[in-house]
Amino acid sequence: MSRRKLVAANWKMNGSRSANALWLTQFAQEGPTCETVVCAPFVYLPQVVAGLTGEIAAGGQDLSRHEPGAHTGEIAGEMLVEIGCRWVIVGHSERRALSGETDAVVAAKARRALGVGLRPIVCIGETLEQRDAGNTLDVIKSQVAAILSACSVAELGRGAIAYEPVWAIGTGRTATPAQAQEVHKAIRSQLAAADAATAASLRLLYGGSVKAANAAELFAQPDIDGGLIGGASLDAREFRAICAAAG
Ligand code: PGA
Repeated sequence: MSRRKLVAANWKMNGSRSANALWLTQFAQEGPTCETVVCAPFVYLPQVVAGLTGEIAAGGQDLSRHEPGAHTGEIAGEMLVEIGCRWVIVGHSERRALSGETDAVVAAKARRALGVGLRPIVCIGETLEQRDAGNTLDVIKSQVAAILSACSVAELGRGAIAYEPVWAIGTGRTATPAQAQEVHKAIRSQLAAADAATAASLRLLYGGSVKAANAAELFAQPDIDGGLIGGASLDAREFRAICAAAG
């Protein structure tokens, strides 16, 4: 089963009008070599949507699990769609840790994203403590089960699942290709138990200290179909090199 590689930038809470403009100019100099998504802070999304060329898509970094209404400070999926986003990150570990998003909240947000036609990149991953205790695969299994309680494998196939070990995010400590592949393989077999045909085509991204220097080796693993890139995506040339590694 051939799966087209997908590489998504997660700018997190970074950027400014001028820095974004420079990034968009630098990134546009050469076409991407894989499917590419740029997830920017909400307020900059119109600028990013307007500045991206070709088939490169824009995405949010979060959405509300609620429908539009009395939810001060929240952003509804419909709003992301209206301004031109096609993707949205859901359940990033920083939101799980810093904003108290539980597995149930993450599942509800994935459901909401799908309901408005957004492609969710649903994030899962174990902490260092959980890995050191030998619980990685159990933790991942229960996170995937929570998502599957709200969304079918076929629905999730419209988006992607990102495995991001918490200990590898922003730390410079990447999972080895073998460590990442082991978890990706386990995720795919869990999905396959529910829907073998769709599981074979669903893209599983790796995230956590991916950079141009280690991307190709990670992306060469049989169950790694691209990446979710934080720090290294802030440099347009570095991000372009990561996209090239996926192509
Ligand atoms: P990182 O972040 O590439 O800076 O480790 C990845 C992410 O949090 O999505």
